[in-house]
Order: sequence, then C-alpha cells, then structure tokens
Amino acid sequence: MTRILGICGSLRANSYNRELLAVLGRFFPDDVSFSIFDAVDVPVFNADLEVDGDPPSVSALKEAIAKADLVVFATPEYNGSIPGSMKNLIDWASRAPDPLKGKPAAIIGGTTGRFGTAHAQMMLRHILVYMNCPLLPGMIAFAHLRDSFDGMTLTDEAISGRLEKAAGAMLDWVAKVGSESQA
Ligand SMILES: Cc1cc2nc3c(=O)[nH]c(=O)nc-3n(C[C@H](O)[C@H](O)[C@H](O)COP(=O)(O)O)c2cc1C
Repeated sequence: MTRILGICGSLRANSYNRELLAVLGRFFPDDVSFSIFDAVDVPVFNADLEVDGDPPSVSALKEAIAKADLVVFATPEYNGSIPGSMKNLIDWASRAPDPLKGKPAAIIGGTTGRFGTAHAQMMLRHILVYMNCPLLPGMIAFAHLRDSFDGMTLTDEAISGRLEKAAGAMLDWVAKVGSESQA
C-alpha cells in the first residue's frame, strides 16, 4: 500500500492549508493510505530534549515520516517564508535516524494574500533540497484563499481540480523516484 503523509505548516484549528491537505487526500484512490500529522504538541527544537529520548510527539512525527512513501508539505507564508512551526518540524525530522533524508516530497500551499506562498515554497524547496528530498516539480500555490472557502468548506472548483491533478502527479512521482531514493 502506498502511504502519503500530509504535514501542515499552520497550527491553527481552522487552517486553510490543513483543509487543502484534507481535500487533496480525498483524491487518492482507496489503496492509498493518506493521513495528516497533528503537529500541535511538537515542542520547539532543543537538543537538550533529545538527551533522554525524543518527546512522544517527535517520535510519532519521525515514525510517520519513516513509514510514508511521500510527504506532502502544505505551507502558509509568513513574512515571505515558511512558518517557524514548519521549520521546527523539519529540524526535528532531520535528527537521528533522519527519516526525512531522501524522502520523496511535494509542496502545496495557500495564503489569504496575493502571493499564494510563492516565496514560502521557494524557501521550503531550498530546505528540502538540502535534505536530499526528491521534490515533485512545479508549484501548487493558491492566493486569496478567503474567496475560495465558505467557512471551512472549499468551494473553488478550480482549486479542487488542481488538487485532484496534484494527487495523481504525487502518485506518479512516488512510482518514479520512490524505490531509487529509499534504496
Ligand atoms: C505572522 C504572519 C505573517 C504573514 N505573512 C504573509 C506573507 O508574507 N505573505 C502572505 O501571502 N501571507 C502572509 N500571511 C497570511 C497567511 O499566509 C495566511 O493567514 C494564511 O491563510 C495562513 O494559513 P492557514 O490558514 O493555513 O493558517 C501572514 C500571516 C501571519 C500570521
């Protein structure tokens, strides 16, 4: 079974990015396991916290990434970059046994503003290239998200259509790079 893990860069209960991930997840076929990691309890990285073993939320994060065939990062944009909480998750996941290293990955993201995470996604690409993650090419970014939602329901069919295509592209990407990158 192919496993896809969603990681959201926003901790907000009503995060648009988490909802984009949830909609994406509905487009995977039944033989794909899709889950979204709940990052609310992950502490700010501090090497002292590793001394007696990882905190439980960090162990759960590392295990979920290790089991995944592909990790989809959904990022908002904060001040032209990724939120600190997203970088924090990546920093934890880069520590032994370094489950993110070489892991196939994809990026999606959306903002309520007009840049639609273009800056944040470039920053995230930079970090994930550093971690040797084979990254799905292209940019799946959405601007002005308040206009695309009714409350927390995505009503924009153009966005759903792009997420549907993205789900297919992610599975193709796993088939293409998965076996070689995890060898
Ligand atoms: C501290 C902060 C900085 C932000 N900076 C940007 C920015 O640089 N560019 C942008 O397009 N949106 C920016 N935003 C807007 C967020 O991207 C927007 O609120 C987004 O919807 C948050 O994602 P979420 O709904 O998943 O929480 C910022 C929001 C916050 C809280």
